[in-house]
Amino acid sequence: MSKAFTIFGGTGDLTFRKLLPALYNGSVSGAESLDYEIVVIGRRDYTAEQYRELARDWVRQFARLPYSDSAFARFAARIDYYRMDFTDPAAYAGLDNYFRTRGIDEFIFYFAVAPRFFGVIAESLAGVSNAPNGKVILEKPFGETLEDAKALNKRLEAIFTPERIYRIDHYLGKEMVRNIETIRFSNPIFTNLWDARFIESVQISAFEDVGVESRGGYYDHAGAMKDMVQNHLFQILSIVAMERPSEYVGSDMHTEQLKVLHALRPVGQDPIQDTLVLGQYEGYRQEKLVDPQSQTETYAAMRLFIDNDRWRGAPFYIRTGKKLGAREMNVVVTYRRPRPDVAHNVLVIRIQPTEGVYLQFNIQKPGDTTEITQAKMDFCQSCSLENRINTPEAYERLIGACIRGERFWFSRWDQIETGWQYVEQLRQAYQEAGLPLHSYAGGSAGPQAAEELLARFGHSWFCER
Ligand code: BG6
Repeated sequence: MSKAFTIFGGTGDLTFRKLLPALYNGSVSGAESLDYEIVVIGRRDYTAEQYRELARDWVRQFARLPYSDSAFARFAARIDYYRMDFTDPAAYAGLDNYFRTRGIDEFIFYFAVAPRFFGVIAESLAGVSNAPNGKVILEKPFGETLEDAKALNKRLEAIFTPERIYRIDHYLGKEMVRNIETIRFSNPIFTNLWDARFIESVQISAFEDVGVESRGGYYDHAGAMKDMVQNHLFQILSIVAMERPSEYVGSDMHTEQLKVLHALRPVGQDPIQDTLVLGQYEGYRQEKLVDPQSQTETYAAMRLFIDNDRWRGAPFYIRTGKKLGAREMNVVVTYRRPRPDVAHNVLVIRIQPTEGVYLQFNIQKPGDTTEITQAKMDFCQSCSLENRINTPEAYERLIGACIRGERFWFSRWDQIETGWQYVEQLRQAYQEAGLPLHSYAGGSAGPQAAEELLARFGHSWFCER
């Protein structure tokens, strides 16, 4: 009997740009178990041979590890293409038959399709022998509204059970996101100084230089709050702020992360204008598939508080946006100053594009002086070719983690639901208060209002230069 890694949505962008290159990398590096056949399901009329040729170009372009004809031939031999209309429940008898004839009875299903298809695929798979005992990997968004998402989740859990559903948040597969725990919990110089008594503020920034590109149809219904904040940034926020999980397996870490989300200061306690700034880049309304009157935010900046013993009094500043001056993501921890005449100690965890750690602290200026200057220690992990080659990409890591059953690399439903509720409440309060959607120029640092938000509280977004 054999195993299959089956991808629904085999001709979509995600499969070509991320999944196939990740599977190729996993097969070349030997990190991924090679006993899974890769069954790609799509509606288009390709033979397996034609599909493999298409896959070759994408792998060549996007795989982390070097392309070679021989490595690709070994990889491609595992790929088959199965044509079907996955929205038609009647078509699944054929799929069942296909799996049976190939002796496949162990499954991982990857739903690389829009959430409106999740239900029909899952329900139809219920009739495919042994499929409900398989694992399912879901891509966000998990629904268009929270209500949809809850209902869909119930249906999926009834078929596959909660333990077999893996909800991908690809930020959890990023090297430096995983590293936050190690930096926090393996260094007394950080572990012992990780609370509001010592830390003045934490900033989490995720800048993108691209706009919505071809995804206007999806993005216009989501916006930055749901596309980036509710999932990726809340994951990072909760890893930065959580208590140490008793072990990094099972649900301990999820539970600690969830406690952080529950401790977020309830929306409405602070004036919304002191909490949230939303923006939209100039020209967004002219993007393909975007409503010409769209009020969707492509930028969000927030001032949040975690009202628990560890963090009471230290703001968490979060911002993300599209079409900004650079692609850059980092976490900045600013320590309180011992005296007003010295600079802050600052720790920066660089997540992308550079991966590394920057630490700024005070030393005496060289020479016969008592003047103080800043030592700026910059460790660049990704500057070494060896490190780059040895660092798996997020999807590669997460596919491997799913195969091994390592659930803590994925989002748990209660985290998603709690984060989602919170961002919806924030957005609603913003709208009800009639606050403006600030316009900003492409290539800028975002709306001025985001600078003013911090300035009102005597802070500023950290800038190394
Ligand atoms: C995705 C969002 O989850 O993350 C995209 O839907 C965003 O809008 C992307 O561009 C960013 O991912 P990365 O890995 O490029 O930072």
